[in-house]
Amino acid sequence: MTLLAVTDLTVHFPSRRGPPVRAVDGVSFTIAAHETLGLVGESGCGKTTVANAVLGLVQPTAGSIRLNGEELAGANRARLRTLRRRMQMVFQDPAGALNPRLTIGGAIAEPLVTRGLARGATARARVAELLNAVGLRPDHAPLFPHQLSGGQRQRAVIARAIALTPALLVCDEPTSALDVSVRAQILNLFLDLQRTQGMALLFVSHDITVVRHVSDRVAVMYLGRLVEVAARDTLFAAPRHPYTRALLAAVPEPDPAAQRGRPRLRLAGEIPSPAAPPPGCTFHTRCPLAIPRCRAEPPALRALGGTFVACHRAEEGQKDA
Ligand SMILES: Nc1ncnc2c1ncn2[C@@H]1O[C@H](COP(=O)(O)OP(=O)(O)OP(=O)(O)O)[C@@H](O)[C@H]1O
Ligand code: SF4
Ligand SMILES: [Mg+2]
Repeated sequence: MTLLAVTDLTVHFPSRRGPPVRAVDGVSFTIAAHETLGLVGESGCGKTTVANAVLGLVQPTAGSIRLNGEELAGANRARLRTLRRRMQMVFQDPAGALNPRLTIGGAIAEPLVTRGLARGATARARVAELLNAVGLRPDHAPLFPHQLSGGQRQRAVIARAIALTPALLVCDEPTSALDVSVRAQILNLFLDLQRTQGMALLFVSHDITVVRHVSDRVAVMYLGRLVEVAARDTLFAAPRHPYTRALLAAVPEPDPAAQRGRPRLRLAGEIPSPAAPPPGCTFHTRCPLAIPRCRAEPPALRALGGTFVACHRAEEGQKDA
């Protein structure tokens, strides 16, 4: 069952000095209930803007965002507040997400109390349950954020986010600020919670190995557009888009045999400005497979096998590289 349906989402930021920044340009995807969709791409490609638009934190220029069939784009504040209960977020910086003057228990109880869903002993019992669910202990409740480690703080943020049993959790680089040693633990916590709490996740990261760890499906974004969407194992075993293949080629493969079998692709040049994206396929300025058609005609995202890919040469790409 489709939980979230994003259709032709476009977010342009006006700029005083020139053309608008086309942060998101016609992005469409769905997330099924209980599914994790990973959204990956280089810095500045528009991932956070997609996440923020889904959460109602930035206003879309055009397009539709439906949660359980209900339109969020352009919904009024009261409506958004109700819908927001079904969508929660976890961002990069766990320190900034917690009030330094509130205990961990107080922070986790807050959404329950302000919505009149629990108080007193019931709220305390629910907080203890949530602390256990995220791998903390009930005796962490009276502590303040500065008394916890970074990983523990992110666990507390996650406990607060799941307190209202959201249908969708939007996570934007939730492990980027953490030490490498705790990163895997937090990623495993997301996997665990998705199973036990029955949530869907929109999981945003610039790190394709992180996305690989947690996602059922992966959407690859470049310069405001999706270039490839596929089931996780399909994407990693048989990436179709030259950009996806370049991202994967940059990741060391633990199995040397697989590394040898993988087509080599290196990216040339810099990411163009989203205020002046190249015509045709926006990737053509960096693509080793570009042909004249690519400069003239933008490729649509189309089905190819089990994958959706936006490339004129997706069929032939594998053998040419
Ligand atoms: N409020 C804003 N006003 C103007 N431009 C913005 C605004 N927010 C984002 N942008 C621009 O939109 C583009 C996409 O930004 P966004 O933050 O969505 O990218 P991202 O993929 O999340 O990058 P990162 O990996 O660095 O977090 C960038 O060029 C950014 O500078
Ligand atoms: S459409 Fe052309 S430029 Fe774009 S990714 Fe495919 S081959 Fe490269
Ligand atoms: Mg971002």
